Amino acid sequence: MRAESWDQNSRYNATMRVTLFGASGLLGQALAQELSAEQLTALSSRDADLRDHARVRAVIHDFRPEWILLSAAYTDVDGCESNRDMAFAVNCEGAINVAQAAREAGSRLLFLSTDYVFDGSKRSPYEISDARNPASVYGESKACAEERLLEILPEVCIARTSWLFGHGGKCFPATILKLASTRPEISVVNDQRGSPTFTRDLASALAHLCRADAHGIVHITNSGDCTWYDFATEIVRASGLPTKVKPVTTAEFPRPARRPAYSVLSPASLHTYNIHMPEWRDALRRYLETSPIVSALQ
Ligand SMILES: NC(=O)c1ccc[n+]([C@@H]2O[C@H](COP(=O)([O-])OP(=O)(O)OC[C@H]3O[C@@H](n4cnc5c(N)ncnc54)[C@H](OP(=O)(O)O)[C@@H]3O)[C@@H](O)[C@H]2O)c1
Repeated sequence: MRAESWDQNSRYNATMRVTLFGASGLLGQALAQELSAEQLTALSSRDADLRDHARVRAVIHDFRPEWILLSAAYTDVDGCESNRDMAFAVNCEGAINVAQAAREAGSRLLFLSTDYVFDGSKRSPYEISDARNPASVYGESKACAEERLLEILPEVCIARTSWLFGHGGKCFPATILKLASTRPEISVVNDQRGSPTFTRDLASALAHLCRADAHGIVHITNSGDCTWYDFATEIVRASGLPTKVKPVTTAEFPRPARRPAYSVLSPASLHTYNIHMPEWRDALRRYLETSPIVSALQ
C-alpha cells in the first residue's frame, strides 16, 4: 500500500491512545497487530458488550483514548434476518452507546461499516455521496448506525469495506480451500460482484486514516473487483488444487438475507488521503502464502 510516510511529520511518530472494540474478530485481530506499537486497549464482547451503556462508558472514560476503533458488530448477515432486535441492539444502539461515550470523553471515533448499506442496483462503483438503501436487516442496522453517528459526532469517520478475508477466523478463502480439498467440484455464485479485502491491508489503511485525522465516510477495499466465482477460481488456481469451480446463480442458492448484486466501492474518498490499496489478487497471494490451511494441504 502506498501512503504518506508517517515519519515526514514528527506528530506521526508519537504513539496513539486507541481503544479497539471487536479485537477478537477477523478484522480486530489484524488491527490489534497493526496497532501493537500504540497504547492500545483491545476489547472483545466479554470485556465490554456494546449493549451495556454503563460498561462502554466506563472503559472509554477510564482510558480516554484519542481514537476509538469500532470494529465490533453482529456480523451474521443471515442470522440478522431472524434476529432483527439483536442486529439493531448491537449494530445500531451499541454503536450509539460508543459514540455518546466518545463525545463525553473527547475521543475520535472510527466506525466500520459495510457495502451492504447499498442495494446493489448500480453498475458503476458506489461513491460516498450515493444514497443508502440496504436490502438486508444487517445492512439496515449498519445504515441506521451511520446516520445516528453522523448526528451525534459530526467528526466521526465511517469506513465502509467489503468481502473481508484474513487469518484467525472464518472467511471465504478458508472455506473454499477446505471444500476444494475434499471435493472434485464446487459451485459458487457468479452474479454478485464486489471487492475482496485483506484484513491486513485494511488494518494498515485504517491506522493511516487515524494518523491523518480522517473524518466523514471513506470507502476502503482492495482494488479491483470480481464475482464470488472469480474469487473462488483464483483461490483454487493459486493454491494448486485440481478442483473444478462451477458458476451458479444466486437464485440457485437462496439465502435468508438478500445480498447486493453489485457492491463495488469507489476508492476516490480513500485517494484524498493519498492511500492506494493493493489489488485483491495480490492481497490473496499474500494471504495464501501465510495461510496455515494452505501449509496443511502441501
Ligand atoms: N466480514 C466482512 O466481510 C465485512 C464486510 C464489511 C464490513 N464489515 C464490518 O467490519 C467489522 C469487522 O468485521 P469482522 O468480520 O471482523 O467481524 P467478526 O469477525 O464477526 O468479529 C466481530 C467482533 O465483534 C465482537 N462483538 C460481537 N457482538 C458484540 C457485542 N454485543 N458487544 C461487543 N462486541 C461484540 C466480537 O466479540 P466476541 O469474539 O467476544 O464475540 C468480535 O470481536 C464489522 O463492523 C463488520 O460489520 C465486515
